[in-house]
Amino acid sequence: MRQLLQQVLRHWHHWRLIQQYKAAWKGKRVVVKKMHFILMIMMVVVLMSIAWWFHRSSIEAGERIATANCGSCHDLSAKKINEKGPYLWGIVNRRAAMIDGFSYSEAFRQFADARQFSWTEANLDVFITDPDQLIPGTRMAQQESDSNHAKAFEGMQNLDNRRELIVFLRTLN
Ligand code: HEC
Repeated sequence: MRQLLQQVLRHWHHWRLIQQYKAAWKGKRVVVKKMHFILMIMMVVVLMSIAWWFHRSSIEAGERIATANCGSCHDLSAKKINEKGPYLWGIVNRRAAMIDGFSYSEAFRQFADARQFSWTEANLDVFITDPDQLIPGTRMAQQESDSNHAKAFEGMQNLDNRRELIVFLRTLN
C-alpha cells in the first residue's frame, strides 16, 4: 500500500514537472512568435520605404524629362493654361481633343472624333514615341513656319524615358 502510494506520488511529481516544462516552453514560443511578428513588420516597412523611394525618384526623373521635352509647348501645372499645345493637367485617361479654348489641328480633331480616342497610358506611349506616325499631320510634330524658334516635337525613342515620363504624367491630377 505504501509502495503504491509512493509510486502514485512519483508519477504525479513527474507529471507536474512535465507540465511546468511545457508551460515554460510555451512561454518561449510566444516570445519567439512575437519577435517574428516584429521582424516581419520591420521587413515590410523597409521594403515599402524602398519601393516608395524608387517611385519618388521615378516621378522626379519623369518630371525632368517632361519639363525638358514638353514644357516648351505644354503647361504641366494645375493652372491649366493653353500654350502652343493644350494643357496636360489630368491628361492620363482624358479624352483626346476635348480642351475648350484650344484650337486643335484638323488632322488631330478628325482622328480623335473618329475613334473616340482617349489618352490611356498605352496610347500616350505610342503618341510620344512618334506623334506623326500615330496622327499624320498633327501640329505637335510640325515646325512652325512663322517663327524661327518654334521647334517641332520629334518623338521620344527611349523606352525608359517614356515610362518615367508617363509615371510623372499620372501625378498630374
Ligand atoms: C513643339 C511643341 C510641342 C512639344 C514640344 C510637345 N507638344 Fe504635345 N502638343 C503640341 C500641339 C500643338 C498639340 C495639339 C496637336 C494638334 O492639334 O494637332 C499637342 C497635343 C498633345 C497631346 C494631346 C492633348 C489632347 O488634348 O488631346 C498630348 C497628350 C501631348 N501633346 C503630349 C505631349 C508630351 C507628353 C510632350 C513631351 C514629351 C509633348 N506633347 C511635347 C505641341 C507640342
